Amino acid sequence: MGRIVIMLGPPGAGKGTQAARLSVQLDLVHVSTGDLFRENLGRETPLGLKAREYMDKGALVPDELVLEMLEQRLTLDDCREGCLLDGFPRTQPQAEALERLVAERGWSVSAYNLEVPDGVLVERLSGRRVCRSDGSHIQHAVFAPPRVEGRCDTCGGELYQRDDDNEEVVGKRLEVYHRQTAPLLEFYSARGVLSAVDGNRAPETVLADLQRLAGEVA
Ligand code: AP5
Repeated sequence: MGRIVIMLGPPGAGKGTQAARLSVQLDLVHVSTGDLFRENLGRETPLGLKAREYMDKGALVPDELVLEMLEQRLTLDDCREGCLLDGFPRTQPQAEALERLVAERGWSVSAYNLEVPDGVLVERLSGRRVCRSDGSHIQHAVFAPPRVEGRCDTCGGELYQRDDDNEEVVGKRLEVYHRQTAPLLEFYSARGVLSAVDGNRAPETVLADLQRLAGEVA
């Protein structure tokens, strides 16, 4: 049976960092809606240009655009057995749409919430550096410094700072998270599929917890 693993948590909680590793271990494709929008933006597609209006302000992209993009992504062959979702769902309508899809396909769902205090999130986001060649290669100026200045440790690609990682937009993203996305914790808790994970520890320690939890429900 296929499965959907959902990484929940505020901006900077480590969803992308953990999803890149956990997806390999679970043999599930990593689907990040933020990365999909940034890829579209890089190619200047109409979807990318539309999404940018919202991303630059730290607001959520409207549900209908997100859902159309995600539903298309899930029809690809590599999602036949499900996937690991990072950055989706973020609103009640997105969570409900995913429920319908999962029910149609008979997939199981497990959700992990990475808990990290807001003060730590701001530090993480302001120092984050992302690889231009592959958005899932994520480093940090202090917490995961590159071996060669400005170059990704994994593939040597150029590291850059995301436009939405500036102080003003980070504040807005945190506010949007608490108002629009945090209520989903109740949604998944009520379904009995949510586990909380302390994300304010070394990445390897967080990953070990996620692996154990994901293994238990496999
Ligand atoms: P998205 O790209 O999803 O951003 P986000 O949710 O804000 O999450 P981040 O990518 O900022 O953080 P993360 O939790 O992945 O942390 P990371 O692992 O990088 O979305 C961007 C925008 O796209 C949204 O604002 C919205 O506009 C739009 N969008 C996307 N999906 C949408 C949806 N479903 N609906 C509507 N709009 C949508 O880690 C952060 C840093 O911390 C890194 O530098 C990392 O090296 C470091 N770090 C990670 N773990 C640790 C650790 N344990 N200890 C120390 N440092 C660590």
